[in-house]
Amino acid sequence: MSTSTSPLFAPFKLGSIELANRLIMAPLTRNRAGPGRVPTDLAIEYYRQRASAGLIITEASQISPMGQGYLDTPGIYSDAQIDAWKRVTAAVHAEGGKIFLQLWHVGRISHTSLLPDGAAPVAPSALTAKSKTFTTEGFVDVSSPRAMTLDDIRSTIADYAQAARNAITAGFDGVEVHAANGYLIDQFLRDSSNQRSDEYGGSIENRTRFLAEVTDAVVAAVGAERVGVRLSPVAPFNDVADSQPQALFERAVERIAAHPLAYVHVIEGATGGDRDIDPSFDFAALRAKFSGAWMVNNGYDHAMAESRLAAGAADLFCFGRLFISNPDLVRRLREGRALNPLDAATLYGGGAKGYTDYPFLPD
Ligand code: PHB
Repeated sequence: MSTSTSPLFAPFKLGSIELANRLIMAPLTRNRAGPGRVPTDLAIEYYRQRASAGLIITEASQISPMGQGYLDTPGIYSDAQIDAWKRVTAAVHAEGGKIFLQLWHVGRISHTSLLPDGAAPVAPSALTAKSKTFTTEGFVDVSSPRAMTLDDIRSTIADYAQAARNAITAGFDGVEVHAANGYLIDQFLRDSSNQRSDEYGGSIENRTRFLAEVTDAVVAAVGAERVGVRLSPVAPFNDVADSQPQALFERAVERIAAHPLAYVHVIEGATGGDRDIDPSFDFAALRAKFSGAWMVNNGYDHAMAESRLAAGAADLFCFGRLFISNPDLVRRLREGRALNPLDAATLYGGGAKGYTDYPFLPD
């Protein structure tokens, strides 16, 4: 059997931490949190099994009760959640792995049945997404949101900062600000979902302000080298669109690049789908705005990661579905071994099946 000597499998310095390799486990919603939106013992085992990734980015985790949009997703705002996450980070660190927590606020992609006292979701503007969410009743249309006040914006930015501090308390190596996939920050960025007339809406400068202020606050809370940001410039996921995506996302990267962030993470296609939805989008121009580590995602396989790394197009390669079905993905790719198939029926919700029972290669 041949073992690859590619730099994909060599250590990579990310701020002050050293990753064992450049293969990153993507943030993946699995809807298996327990009562109180607390990660369970199964989550500890799931992440421990995948600790040979260069870095694990956890499933999206809400920064506050109002940040939740789907059934049984975990949070990072309560003491019980922090304590449970401590056990996850300890398990991953005991295996020599590194782990960031993804900070999430869904904005309008939610349902009153999931929110405190049946509240309406909050969003930049009172525009209902043509999108579904998953509740105790199964897949349902999202609820109509109310537009955030300036006080809501200020307190939500404070929630991001507190959630980042909570993540560090829980032992995470850093946090990833989820600014992708049509959730709250992306809703502020795009002109289809942001029709505000104050300093958070209208011009690209105004629409990138919320992202910039959240990033500033999270960086102030935990330090830039412990912060990554994830963007999805071409993904129409969750009913978002923009009239000038190239200019918008170049300015977005420019603003967050005011900090020496751990990395910028870009989804290069449609979330969970096609890579070639907007072939005119210039990702190289985006990358040119940031001098730190560039992480990419969306439909990568080993050969693609090798060729993009050799071309100097990215530093870190994020795999989602492959890491779900192959806890030892790094070894399998390094040794050119077969991969386990994914069971799509067990992605969301349930227990160990399709979560912690995918087989490892024999020793
Ligand atoms: C999902 O729950 O389907 C989901 C969550 C976060 C994402 C994308 C999809 O960024």
